[in-house]
Amino acid sequence: MKAFIFDLDGVIVFTDKFHYQAWKKMADGMGIYFDEKINNRLRGVSRVESLEIILERYEGEPLSAERKAELMEEKNNTYRKLLSTMTPADVTDEVRNTLKELHERGCKLAIGSSSKNAKFILEKVELLDAFDAISDGNNITHSKPDPEVFSKAGEFLGEKPDNCIVVEDAYAGIDAAKAAGMTAVGIGDAFGYDKADVKIQTFSELLKLAE
Ligand code: BG6
Ligand code: MG
Repeated sequence: MKAFIFDLDGVIVFTDKFHYQAWKKMADGMGIYFDEKINNRLRGVSRVESLEIILERYEGEPLSAERKAELMEEKNNTYRKLLSTMTPADVTDEVRNTLKELHERGCKLAIGSSSKNAKFILEKVELLDAFDAISDGNNITHSKPDPEVFSKAGEFLGEKPDNCIVVEDAYAGIDAAKAAGMTAVGIGDAFGYDKADVKIQTFSELLKLAE
């Protein structure tokens, strides 16, 4: 049976709005222009790379490493406050039932997320037990489009890359999956990405890949 590796933000849960609000608060405080289009570029990339993208519009003196660390902490504190309002109702029945069905069919399931908050989110929505392994921002040194997060997820599951199917909403995530030698399924934003091997409009279409 195939093994599935899921990106978290934008695939299992929709935390983009919280990332946006938290970065927006930080950017407004610094007088930096930030909008949803720029926020889209942050999909799948690490916290530190996200900050650098936002700082492209910063016109002040260069910031020290300490100041950048402070800004990331400020953003993460706001983000975690927003995340703490999440409940199991933030995962659709379709997602929950599809994960359950894939497990029942004998597929192994993992998370492959750049986020250091992945376990916190999974606890809030009560999905921690739905996965056999979690590879996240805490066990990687290179973020998507580097394949590391997915390669590690495959290792944690004990599966070879060619048996792994990655489900992603970010272009950077599709590139990472391909670089890992895995099958890449595009959903959401990545539905429009031609490098995805398979494109799905709705989560339950994954069941067709596990027959
Ligand atoms: C990814 C998001 O899942 O996690 C990115 O798509 C985010 O937008 C990255 O920058 C890192 O998240 P966190 O929670 O570690 O700040
Ligand atoms: Mg994502």
